[in-house]
Amino acid sequence: MVIAVDGPAASGKGTIAKALARHYDLPHMDTGLLYRAVALSLWRFGGNAGNPFEAVRAVEEIGNIDPEDEELRSETVGELASRVSAYPAVRKALLERQRAFAAQDGGAVLDGRDIGTVIAPQAGAKIFVTASPEIRAERRHKEITARGVNAHYDEVLADIRARDKRDASRDAAPLVRAEDADLLDTSNLSIDAAVQRAIELVEARLQASGLK
Ligand code: DC
Repeated sequence: MVIAVDGPAASGKGTIAKALARHYDLPHMDTGLLYRAVALSLWRFGGNAGNPFEAVRAVEEIGNIDPEDEELRSETVGELASRVSAYPAVRKALLERQRAFAAQDGGAVLDGRDIGTVIAPQAGAKIFVTASPEIRAERRHKEITARGVNAHYDEVLADIRARDKRDASRDAAPLVRAEDADLLDTSNLSIDAAVQRAIELVEARLQASGLK
């Protein structure tokens, strides 16, 4: 079974995807990390994010990025990832490895922006995770300050809004809910309650498709 989890930044989709992978004993891919790795390698070789050719060149370098590198999770890299991910050539260069991951025997859980629409439109269960921008900014702000980094809530909220706008308005695989995706609004849910709800949604899909 393939489970597609999509949604905007700080919606909780990563936590939910990881929990689903654990629950169903499936491998998990955080596809945002691929775009973040492109952004980080571009940044390290001093490439120009305004130039799609340099961004595509950075895709070839992502093998040199350590997935545990703290910088991958930084706001700067997230922002840069959002910019380079708007280039169709960058998306194309990352497409096959995501599709291959989704196509492996036994299935997989992938989370990102375009899993249910482009990477795995055949997924047996699709969840579009969302939450209000204010709540997402609050969560992100907490995460950042917990890392010991200074941040202003208003700036985090402005960044979240800017990222939403860029991710949703780009021409190439924009952030949209797939028609057949279930909506999961985590604004007023604890992590445990959100995970529980996600499992219920997947179970309902399994039953509807006769797999259970
Ligand atoms: O989920 P994230 O914040 O780690 O993703 C970083 C950026 O990468 C995000 O702003 C847009 C891009 N991205 C994408 O375009 N498609 C995906 N499947 C995953 C991420």
